Amino acid sequence: MARMALVGLGGMGNMHLGIYNKLDGAEVVAVFDIDPEKLKLGQSKQEINLGTGGGVLDPKKTKVYTDFDKMLADPGIDAVDICTPTPVHKDCAVKALNAGKHVICEKPMGRTPADAMAMVEAAEKTGRTLMIAQCIRFWPDYVHLKQTLDSGRLGRLISLEMWRFSGPPRWGWQNWFLKGDMSGGALLDFHVHDVDFVVSLFGKPESVSSQGVKGPSSEIDAVVTQYNYGLDKIVTTTGNWCLGGGFHMAYLAVFEKGHIRYDSRFSPALVEVTQDGEKTPEILPGDGYLHEITYFIECINKGQAPARCMPRSSAMSIQVADAERRSALSGRPEKV
Ligand SMILES: NC(=O)c1ccc[n+]([C@@H]2O[C@H](COP(=O)([O-])OP(=O)(O)OC[C@H]3O[C@@H](n4cnc5c(N)ncnc54)[C@H](O)[C@@H]3O)[C@@H](O)[C@H]2O)c1
Repeated sequence: MARMALVGLGGMGNMHLGIYNKLDGAEVVAVFDIDPEKLKLGQSKQEINLGTGGGVLDPKKTKVYTDFDKMLADPGIDAVDICTPTPVHKDCAVKALNAGKHVICEKPMGRTPADAMAMVEAAEKTGRTLMIAQCIRFWPDYVHLKQTLDSGRLGRLISLEMWRFSGPPRWGWQNWFLKGDMSGGALLDFHVHDVDFVVSLFGKPESVSSQGVKGPSSEIDAVVTQYNYGLDKIVTTTGNWCLGGGFHMAYLAVFEKGHIRYDSRFSPALVEVTQDGEKTPEILPGDGYLHEITYFIECINKGQAPARCMPRSSAMSIQVADAERRSALSGRPEKV
C-alpha cells in the first residue's frame, strides 16, 4: 500500500484525491496546502475544466500539515503528489526526493527548462521515482495512436496534427493561470500536453517553427507549431485557451494504409478508417488521469522505473516548449 501525501488541494489535487479514493494500492495519509481553507478535510470542491469530479478526505486516516518540511519528515509517507501551481513544482519535488520520498508531480514539469533539469538530477541522485503526470501519454485514445505507430499495422506515418482548445482557466488559486509569469500561458500550461505526446512518440525534434499570440495571461496563449523531424513526416500542434468557453482536444494521424481521427467533442470520439471501412477501436475504459496514477502506484509498489514517462523525457517537453516560445517571439525556426 503506497502511503501518499497530497500537496495542493485545488482543482487537480481534488481530482487526484478522487482517484486515490478508488485505488486499492494507495491511500492519502497526509495533506498540505498553503491555503488553510483548503485544509478543512472534505471541503475541497474545486474542479478543473473537464468536470472530472473530486474526492473525499478521511479525517481518521489523513494528517493535516501546515508545514511542508515537517510533513516530509514523517516516515509514514512513501510518496508525495504535487498539485501546486507550476512555479512551486521544482522546490516541492526536489525537497521531497531529497527527503527520500517518491514523487508524482502535475504537468508542466517546471516553469523553466532549468527547473525541470533540477528535478531530473534530484531523482537520479536520490534513486527515488519521479514521474510527471503527463496524462495524455496514458489517455486511451492517444495510447491507441502510439500502439498503432509502434506496431506498424497501418504502415508509415505521413502526418500527425493535434489540437487543444479551451476558454481561459479562471479557477486557479489567486488567478495564477492568467499570470503568464507563473503559468507560462497556454503554451506551457496547456499546449505542453501535446508537446509532450509528440516528444513521447518521436523524441527530440531538430527544430521547431511556431507562431504565437499573446492573450489574457500576457504570455503566449495561442500557438501553432511545426516540428522538424526530417523530410518524411509532418507533425503539427495547435494550443489555444482564448476560446469563449468549453474544452476540446483532437488529433488526425494519417498513415500509408489508413487514418485515425480523435475528437473529444464527438461520439464516437475515436475512429479508424482503412480500405476495409470505418471502425471504432476498442480501448481501455477510464481516462488518462486514472491510468497515470494507477501506473505510478504500480511502479513504486513494485520498485520499477516509470518507463512510460521518464523524467528526462518530460524535461525534454519543457525544452521543446521553450524553443516554441523562442520561435514564436523571433519569427524563425529555433533549435531545441
Ligand atoms: N493534467 C491536467 O489536465 C491539468 C489540468 C489543470 C491543471 N493542471 C496542473 O496542475 C497543477 C495545479 O493546477 P490546479 O488546477 O489544481 O490549480 P489550483 O489553483 O486549482 O490549485 C492549486 C492549489 O495549490 C495551493 N498552493 C499554492 N501555492 C502553494 C504552495 N506554495 N504550497 C502548497 N500549496 C500551494 C493552492 O492553495 C491551491 O489549493 C498545475 O501545475 C497545473 O498546470 C493539470
